[in-house]
Amino acid sequence: MKFLKFDEIDSTNNYMKENIPSFENYDIVSAKIQTSGRGRRGNVWLSPEGMALFSFLLKPEKTLSIIEATKLPLLAGISTLVALKKIKDGAYSFKWTNDVFLNSKKLCGILIERVKDDFVVGIGINVANKIPEDIKNIAISMESDYDIDKLILKVVEEFSLYYKRFSEGKWQEIIEEINSYNFLKNKKIRVHIGDKVFQGIARNIVEDGRIEIEMDGEIKLFSVGEIKIEKD
Ligand code: BTN
Repeated sequence: MKFLKFDEIDSTNNYMKENIPSFENYDIVSAKIQTSGRGRRGNVWLSPEGMALFSFLLKPEKTLSIIEATKLPLLAGISTLVALKKIKDGAYSFKWTNDVFLNSKKLCGILIERVKDDFVVGIGINVANKIPEDIKNIAISMESDYDIDKLILKVVEEFSLYYKRFSEGKWQEIIEEINSYNFLKNKKIRVHIGDKVFQGIARNIVEDGRIEIEMDGEIKLFSVGEIKIEKD
């Protein structure tokens, strides 16, 4: 397994995507700083020193269907959560579709990008970095001096174990575990999809990876969308 470490790079996801042929399954690229870190929905991902900033390659043995691929963010989320919980115990939760929360604040973001049949799994975790004052209400750091390279290896190892179970058809038990950490469950939320906004109460994450949102007493299933918690 290759583990390439950069002091500074534009984005570990970009690097891996541009150099896919030189990587094997579970090879890793990390950086101390990213100058153009990317988040989901085209957002900038601020990438100061002290964060774990890395991407690893998933090369499935057979082509994943779109439904199977939809489950990867959930797999990456639960495996990162479990790996971090083993490193430093705490009140972790999983915010559908792929954020890990600690004490109800965002600790980690995940950006998965498909390149033909392969997937670049990019993860950013607030490990030792301090959270800027203006976002302290929504983001949190582990504030841990745990060795970042070791932490990255543990996350990738945990993902590989979950992915193995997923490949062996054990998705049902994984989805139950994911639901046990479901941050949104029973919360009043708004789902933003493009210009549209839907309101409801989040319920369970279902087998195919979608989330149930109860609207006027009726359950609707959502596969995409940015979910914001309603303030009472
Ligand atoms: C999000 O929550 O919007 C996803 C953030 C993903 C950030 C990670 S940091 C390592 C990898 N390289 C990137 O440019 N992005 C991902």
